[in-house]
Amino acid sequence: MPHAITIHQPGGPEAMRWEEITLADPAPGEVRLKQIVVGLNYIDVYQRMGKYPLELPGPIGMEATGVVEALGDGVDTVNVGDRVGYVMGPPGAYAEARNYPAERLIPLPDDITDEQAAAMMLKGLTAAYLIRRTFVVEPGQTVLFHAAAGGVGLIICQWLKRIGATVIGTVGSDEKAETAKAYGCDHTIVYTRENFSEAVMEITQGQGVPVVYDGVGATTYEGSLECLARFGMYVSFGAASGAPPPVPVSALAPKALYVTRPGLGPHTATRELTLEVANALFDAVRGGVKVEINQRYALQDAADAHRALESRSTTGSTILTI
Ligand SMILES: NC(=O)c1ccc[n+]([C@@H]2O[C@H](COP(=O)([O-])OP(=O)(O)OC[C@H]3O[C@@H](n4cnc5c(N)ncnc54)[C@H](OP(=O)(O)O)[C@@H]3O)[C@@H](O)[C@H]2O)c1
Repeated sequence: MPHAITIHQPGGPEAMRWEEITLADPAPGEVRLKQIVVGLNYIDVYQRMGKYPLELPGPIGMEATGVVEALGDGVDTVNVGDRVGYVMGPPGAYAEARNYPAERLIPLPDDITDEQAAAMMLKGLTAAYLIRRTFVVEPGQTVLFHAAAGGVGLIICQWLKRIGATVIGTVGSDEKAETAKAYGCDHTIVYTRENFSEAVMEITQGQGVPVVYDGVGATTYEGSLECLARFGMYVSFGAASGAPPPVPVSALAPKALYVTRPGLGPHTATRELTLEVANALFDAVRGGVKVEINQRYALQDAADAHRALESRSTTGSTILTI
């Protein structure tokens, strides 16, 4: 019998239990996957805490790579033995085996390893839609990205550099500043001791930035609006420090700002949308964007991985191995 990490009640890392599961045959349209590597993402923390409510008891996790082991009726997009990855869809990635909708699977090219894919798909697809769809970054623009040494952060810093943008990144420590710089961040601001908004205005000679990508939320929202240029866009895509407060529309008027709250769900709602960003990510990796796996845990030790992520002690990507 396969094992999975399930939660019975929302809570801290200790809420995650390593349990045997019973796996039914794949339903029509589904495949059974033998999972190989699971990607750790901040969304897993929100699920565990109950911020993104799940049906309980239930499994968590939104990203893994694996091999197709069995096909449900009507599946013709993959074959038994195919290497695949997935992001989002029904939660349940923290498992040795699971059933999953075939339509959402991403075939893995031979030059992308299982570990690489699990470390980068959710974070890299996010990077891809943020800078190619949400706010299309042009060469020569200067952009602000919060938590630049994190999982999404290290991928996006490199990608933005390849586009020809100047990257300002906030980070929680001097060590993280060094890491972010090594991956293409031009200016780092240690926002735990510096006023990042003032620093951004100084770097941009009072102009502000046309876009702020903010996955930190509560502690960065206000300063982010302050350092946006006229007609700038505040992209709130996460809430590692807590959710930002609701923005009164009138607060946007002085600089005619735009505010958006994008998600990977809508950006991977169809197979075409998913494969478009996946192929862009694979091309970026082939072009030199590196995916750093800086932390590894066995899947059954996922609680330790969550503790590390929440205590801000990780950089780059973390994988959970089976
Ligand atoms: N909307 C979407 O489609 C989407 C998809 C993927 C990820 N996300 C969001 O993107 C963000 C980054 O995700 P990730 O998986 O790559 O995580 P991550 O950036 O590797 O980890 C989160 C980072 O946030 C920073 N942070 C600031 N205040 C924090 C606090 N109070 N508690 C914990 N961390 C804090 C820390 O970096 P410093 O120490 O440098 O401050 C920490 O390392 C998350 O908010 C996630 O939810 C959104």
